[in-house]
Amino acid sequence: MDAADMGKDLSKVLIPEEELQAKIKELASRIDEDYAGKDLLIVGVLKGAVMVMADLARALHVPVQMDWMAVSSYGAGTKSSGVVRVLKDLDTDIAGRHVLVVEDIIDSGLTLSWLVHNLKSRNPASVEICAALRKPDAVKVPIDVKYIGFDIPNEFVIGYGLDYAERYRNLPFIGTLAPHVYGAG
Ligand code: XMP
Ligand code: MG
Repeated sequence: MDAADMGKDLSKVLIPEEELQAKIKELASRIDEDYAGKDLLIVGVLKGAVMVMADLARALHVPVQMDWMAVSSYGAGTKSSGVVRVLKDLDTDIAGRHVLVVEDIIDSGLTLSWLVHNLKSRNPASVEICAALRKPDAVKVPIDVKYIGFDIPNEFVIGYGLDYAERYRNLPFIGTLAPHVYGAG
């Protein structure tokens, strides 16, 4: 599926595939430097982080193990409430391990701040965050994100793992939806 096929549902391409891939490589080389000689576990947050995890993991030169968590935010509406339910926990015991949480997007930051708190209670050697995207609201929650791809405007985005009603995750770029898709026109 390319931009032309998706043209009618997309309002615009916000970050093209080439820019995404270049940024992931840039983040990977910083991570390579920071974790040289260390034992690193990268943790992807399902489902949104699958694309970032796949690309980041392949761009890294440091040896890593990969694990996954699935979480869901409770609460009415489309905004996350900060109350998080674990749908799938790690398979790995992270005590004493260096953990890097990989996320697609930080919006309010509530989900990640809960997750980091939860992971820290398991006594890892360290916990850091890598997120492909960050929205302006994220500044409201004090959360220390070591590796960030792009700061984006406060718009609903799709592609590169991000969905609207489970669609569009497989787009290789980040786009915004045309209003008619979510019923505004
Ligand atoms: P918080 O607000 O806790 O939530 O940082 C982050 C989670 O909300 C989802 N999210 C989005 N998903 N397009 C999406 O497809 C968006 O623009 C968007 N903003 C937030 C996402 O699951 C993320 O992990
Ligand atoms: Mg997510």
